[in-house]
Amino acid sequence: MKTVRISLIGFGAVGQGVASTVLSKRDFLKKQGIDLRFVGITDSKGSEVDENGIDLEAAISRKKDTGSVATGDMTALEIIRNVKHEIMVDVTPTNIDDGEPGLGNMLSAFGAGRHVVTSNKGPLALRFSELNEAAEDNGLFFRYEATVAGAVPIFNLVHEALAGNTVTGIEGILNGTCNYILTRMTEERMPYKLALKEAQELGFAETDPTYDVGGIDAALKLVIIANSIFGTGATYHDVDVTGITKITPEALELASNNNSVIKLVCEAVNGTLKVAPRLVPKRHPLAVGGTLNVASIQTDLAGRITISGKGAGSIETASSILSDIIYIARHV
Ligand code: HSE
Repeated sequence: MKTVRISLIGFGAVGQGVASTVLSKRDFLKKQGIDLRFVGITDSKGSEVDENGIDLEAAISRKKDTGSVATGDMTALEIIRNVKHEIMVDVTPTNIDDGEPGLGNMLSAFGAGRHVVTSNKGPLALRFSELNEAAEDNGLFFRYEATVAGAVPIFNLVHEALAGNTVTGIEGILNGTCNYILTRMTEERMPYKLALKEAQELGFAETDPTYDVGGIDAALKLVIIANSIFGTGATYHDVDVTGITKITPEALELASNNNSVIKLVCEAVNGTLKVAPRLVPKRHPLAVGGTLNVASIQTDLAGRITISGKGAGSIETASSILSDIIYIARHV
């Protein structure tokens, strides 16, 4: 049995999703020879540390009952630097101004010899090259499948299954909230504000929904794709971004009458990065509905490969995080 020790930095919806997924998969993982032991969990109010392994069920219950996982006040950076473990999982909230606290957590983790798994888009959209170099310089894994399109394994697909192909372009729908709003406005003739409210109630929207409807969240994901797949060294500021706030019910109806839908499409083609509403034929592979995400990847050998699935949700995001953890566990 291989024991892999983990720090879980951030215990909101995604962090709790990771903990409950690992709990429910414990026997499944043990059958594969992997024992995941959480030695530190933090949230904004404090932390729990146990070098012998935290009781995840108790941690989740305490968070639900008291609003915090804290049993002590060791900070995230103290845990990352001083508590022995192999993988630091950063699921702190995205911040596109300076990438903190995720950026500091990740750089400290690499400095302390920890592999990093994350769902946090901000640091990767701002400082991808620096993070990648820090991982490489220290001989560590840096895995971030959960940053883009939730459960949809875009990076695994391109880097593993399509290894050997040159990717020449990617188009996708990478923001579930916008896709939900446009779908509801088109199919139910629902007013924009009501559709946005529904998306917020479903828990898909960012804390500040202007990140979604302004196209910012989609742009962050596109930058991560560009860096990871094309190695462009791009940042969020290189993306030409238009959101969906100016799409009128009349425009959607006109599109529909012409057998098309309006979608917020992300494109990385010929070195340019663009997020903008676009007309898409109703039967086109990009015309997925509701909160679904989709990525259509053009390659030289395999041709076009299109992959679609759930782009948000705590368990769906945990699916990608767990996959990255297992990848590292198998390779260390
Ligand atoms: N707000 C994001 C979305 C969540 O709607 O796609 C997943 O990153």
